Amino acid sequence: MKKKFTNATIYKHDDASEILVENGKFKAIGHDLGEADETIDLQGRLVLPPYVDSHLHLDYYFTGQDDDIKNESGTLFEAIDLWNDYKKGTTKEEMKVRMRQAVKDVASYGTQFIRAQTDCTDPHLTGIKAALEVRDELKNNITIQVVAFPQNGMYSFEEEGQSGRDLVEKALQLGADCVGGIPHNEWSAEDGNESVKEIVRLAIKYDKLIDVHCDETDDHQARFLEVLNAEALKQGYGKSTTASHTSSFGSANDAYAFRMMGLFRQSGINFVACPTENLFLQGRQDTYPKRRGLTRVKEFVDHGINVAFGQDSIVDLWYPAGSGNMMNILDNGLHATQLMRDEDFPRNFDLITYNGAQLMQLEDHYGLDEGKPANFIVLDAPNTFEAQRRRVECLASIRHGEYLFKKEPRVFDTELDIDRKTK
Ligand code: FE2
Repeated sequence: MKKKFTNATIYKHDDASEILVENGKFKAIGHDLGEADETIDLQGRLVLPPYVDSHLHLDYYFTGQDDDIKNESGTLFEAIDLWNDYKKGTTKEEMKVRMRQAVKDVASYGTQFIRAQTDCTDPHLTGIKAALEVRDELKNNITIQVVAFPQNGMYSFEEEGQSGRDLVEKALQLGADCVGGIPHNEWSAEDGNESVKEIVRLAIKYDKLIDVHCDETDDHQARFLEVLNAEALKQGYGKSTTASHTSSFGSANDAYAFRMMGLFRQSGINFVACPTENLFLQGRQDTYPKRRGLTRVKEFVDHGINVAFGQDSIVDLWYPAGSGNMMNILDNGLHATQLMRDEDFPRNFDLITYNGAQLMQLEDHYGLDEGKPANFIVLDAPNTFEAQRRRVECLASIRHGEYLFKKEPRVFDTELDIDRKTK
């Protein structure tokens, strides 16, 4: 069965307008691709690879709606304390129900790839077991990587004789894909540094990727990113390592940051920034001027350091909003990081597509290339600039050549003669 999508504007394929799909894979991307069993006219719309949310807490989805549990300070650390009590009352089945709902919610905006940060500081590993089951159950429609994330710390947590570090290892043995960590939530710099070294040791031992919540603080002297990068560099593990958040790097002094940029390039380490959450959570101890709480995204882009955006939270104790719509994340991120130069607009979608896929090491399965699975989305815009300017909807999500969903473009019931200008 051959399916042909015609009249498409294809991301980073300026000379192509047609996509031919056969047996769920891209057979060809080009012009005049011949006959097919079915032809679908995309009417000039923009085709992208699917959105990638490379940092999302599926297990926290809609845990922030309880009137009895409120994060009054709006800080990261109060949220961690509140969650510690909340999670004791959850079951695996309840988690799975919420995770499935989260996946459907996120997928409805065009995301097909998720890195799921999943709390493992629980002696029963309830969230990890739930996430692994949901990952396997939904794999045909969505690709999920599970991070063994010790929310309460590797060394500052112990329950029923098991430390956070022990629980990370158990989660990896159960099948988690990535080693997580949170050095800035350990009780001392020594413990934080040791946790980073242990994360890298565990990743090598079990052949896993690394994704650390790293320096998610406004403390301009936070240096766990430096340690993580150094360990990754020593072990040749940079391309398999991601530093998430790194808010403090946005507050670091320029001389220090300049030197670190060179070392990041050397290691090949990846970054994830979460624009909406860190705009909301950081700067809480600042009066004015109030910091944005984001890492140096524009400088990473300019230095060829891989950086992606994530929607960290959807209605949880950390952040009361969030939809999983990566277009909204891109929009907020581009404003907060000033990525609106002429050269930025044509490549900005990398931040929620290819860059996330790169850090998840999905290269063989992801992207608009012949021979790869025919996974792509269709946006209601004629080009990348219009898509970003108007924050357009995703009208279709296609997986292995089949629709996960498709929507009709909006129709206006009006006497106005709407003739929108496009660039
Ligand atoms: Fe997070």
